Amino acid sequence: QELGVVAVGFSGGQPKAGVDNGPQALIQSGLLGQINTELGYKLHGDSEVQYYKDLAVANDADHRGMKNPRTVSAVNKAISQKTYEQSVAGRLTLTLGGDHSIAIGTISGTAKATRERLGREIAVIWVDAHADINTPESSDSGNIHGMPVAFLTGLAKGDSDDAFGWVKEEHQLNIKKLVYIGLRDVDVGEKKILREHGVKAFSMFDVDRYGIGRVMEMALAHIGADTPIHLSFDIDALDPTWAPSTGTPVRGGLTLREGDYICECIHQTGNLIAVDLVEVNPALAATEAGAQETVRAGCSIVRCALGETLL
Ligand code: ARG
Ligand code: MN
Ligand code: MN
Ligand code: MN
Repeated sequence: QELGVVAVGFSGGQPKAGVDNGPQALIQSGLLGQINTELGYKLHGDSEVQYYKDLAVANDADHRGMKNPRTVSAVNKAISQKTYEQSVAGRLTLTLGGDHSIAIGTISGTAKATRERLGREIAVIWVDAHADINTPESSDSGNIHGMPVAFLTGLAKGDSDDAFGWVKEEHQLNIKKLVYIGLRDVDVGEKKILREHGVKAFSMFDVDRYGIGRVMEMALAHIGADTPIHLSFDIDALDPTWAPSTGTPVRGGLTLREGDYICECIHQTGNLIAVDLVEVNPALAATEAGAQETVRAGCSIVRCALGETLL
C-alpha cells in the first residue's frame, strides 16, 4: 500500500514552544522506518520535517481574538494542498504534527480530494480530550488549535483569504459525519455548539459506561459502512500516564490500549484514508522518560492505525 507522509513542524496554533519538534521526535524514534519495513507501506511525500518558516507573517496582529491568524491560515493552506495531492493520488495520508490547528489543512485537503476522486463526503473521527470546536468568538484563549473543527464544518467562516477565507465548501466536513471520542475538557461555549448541532460525541463518561468496544461499534455505526474515514488523533486523548508530554494534558483519559484499539477498529473497516497524530511536545514532560513515553505512545497509535496489531 502507498502512504503519503506530511510532517509538519508547526506550533503557531498555541503558545507553548516545542510542539514543532514533535514530528522530528516521532521520526527519530524510527516510526517511518517501521512503517516501511515492518508494515510494508511504500512511502511518498515529506522525507524531512517541514517547518513553513517562510510562511510566518511578521506583525501578525490578533484578528477576531485569534492569535497568529495569518500565519496559521497560510501554513494550513499549504498543508491543505499537500494532503490534497497525496490523497487525490489514492494514497493513505499520514500527517505528523504539530499542534492541532494543522487539522484545518489536513482535513480540508482530504475532503476535497475525496470529493474529486470518489465523489464522496468524508467522515472524521476526532480522538481528543478537547472538542476543538470553538469559533473565534466563543474561544476564551484565542488559540487556533482550539478552533479547527469550527472552520472545517463551516461554523466559523474566514472573512478574508489570508484569515481562513480560502476554506471553501469543497474543503468542508459535514458536521453529521463527525464523531468525537475521549472528550473530557469541553468549554461551556463548545458544549452549547455540540448540543445545538446534535454532534455525535463519546466522552470519557461513555467510554466508562459502555467500554471502548461498544463505543467503537456505535461510532462506526453512526458513520455507516463504506464511508471514507479521516482519523485525527490528539495525543492528549490519552491519559497523562501514557502521554504527559503535551500542551494541554487532562487527567482521566484513555489508556494506551484503548487508544490503540480505536485505531485498530478504524483500520479494520478498510475505509481509512488519512491519519493525523498531533500535539506531541517533547519539551513539556517533567522527566526525559515522560517525553520518551509520549513519543512511544504516538508511534504505537500510528502503527495501530496502519494495521500493525491485526493478524
Ligand atoms: N478549549 C481550549 C481552547 O479553546 C483548549 C483547546 C486545546 N486544544 C488542543 N488541540 N489541545 O483553547
Ligand atoms: Mn486536545
Ligand atoms: Mn486537539
Ligand atoms: Mn491491513
